[in-house]
Amino acid sequence: MAKITVIGSMVMDNVAKMDKFPQAGETVLGATLEFFPGGKGANQCVSVARLGGEVEMVGMLGKDGNGDVFRQIFKEEGIKADNVFSCDKPTAVAQIQINAEGQNRICVIPCANFEFGVEELNKVDELIKNTELVILQLELRLDITKEIIRRAHRYGVKVLLNPAPAVKLEKEILGMLDYITPNETELSILTGLPTETDEEVIAAAKELLSYGTKTIIATLGSRGALIATKDSVEIVSGYKVKAVDTVAAGDSFNGAFAVALTEGKTLKEAVQFANAMGALTVTKKGAIPSLHTRAQVEEFIGRIPNQKIKES
Ligand code: RIB
Repeated sequence: MAKITVIGSMVMDNVAKMDKFPQAGETVLGATLEFFPGGKGANQCVSVARLGGEVEMVGMLGKDGNGDVFRQIFKEEGIKADNVFSCDKPTAVAQIQINAEGQNRICVIPCANFEFGVEELNKVDELIKNTELVILQLELRLDITKEIIRRAHRYGVKVLLNPAPAVKLEKEILGMLDYITPNETELSILTGLPTETDEEVIAAAKELLSYGTKTIIATLGSRGALIATKDSVEIVSGYKVKAVDTVAAGDSFNGAFAVALTEGKTLKEAVQFANAMGALTVTKKGAIPSLHTRAQVEEFIGRIPNQKIKES
């Protein structure tokens, strides 16, 4: 069994580049339209693989050309994909807009991702029992994701939830998580608290801790990430790079964080490594094409060391 199991989405991204996002009712002229394989689940899984982690992908694709793109990627990246199922619905697609600053707006149409149901979940029950860490996002059916969290918790298997796209979750579910990695907006949705300032982010993270979530890693964009546990709260600063396309930066952060954790690194070391992977991701366009390798991340960290840690 692989050490890390990603149960999640695979999405073909339709990416339009433009100077500025259109307002509601406005038309703008774009520069390019390109197609890149992505989806939070696949992005996180490929990140793990490119960083040298042992990983298996679980999910649902359509029996179509887009599905074949993902099947080929898993083969080339050495990712176990025996439990990537196929259905009659098309592979999921996303419409993504990227502006001149590299910021994105994303709309995902779930299609096949929402066909992953209890029948498929039962088929991977043994796999969940025997893996070290399950990585989840919120792009599969919510009832199924919650059931995976319940089962992993019952089996004593660690769960990392990247709560994107964010929805309000029950405290009972949040309390079963070992790691949660919201950005500021997602943290605000999860807790109902403001997250505009570092102080507010810390207060919201402490609220999640009070539900029983063991470790909160709140990603703060180029400012870095906050680590909150019952023992300490600290901010690990990020890297300043020129953003070309921010798509998949959060996903590669999650993949890198998971790899470092399963290698026995401390939380702080894992977040430093993840910050570097996330920063490099925004320097390249596309989701999966922007994911860097272990050698590239280590070379980058070697060139730009010394991240400041702010403890509070
Ligand atoms: O996190 C980025 C991803 O979100 C994109 O690849 C898109 O497919 C959506 O799932």
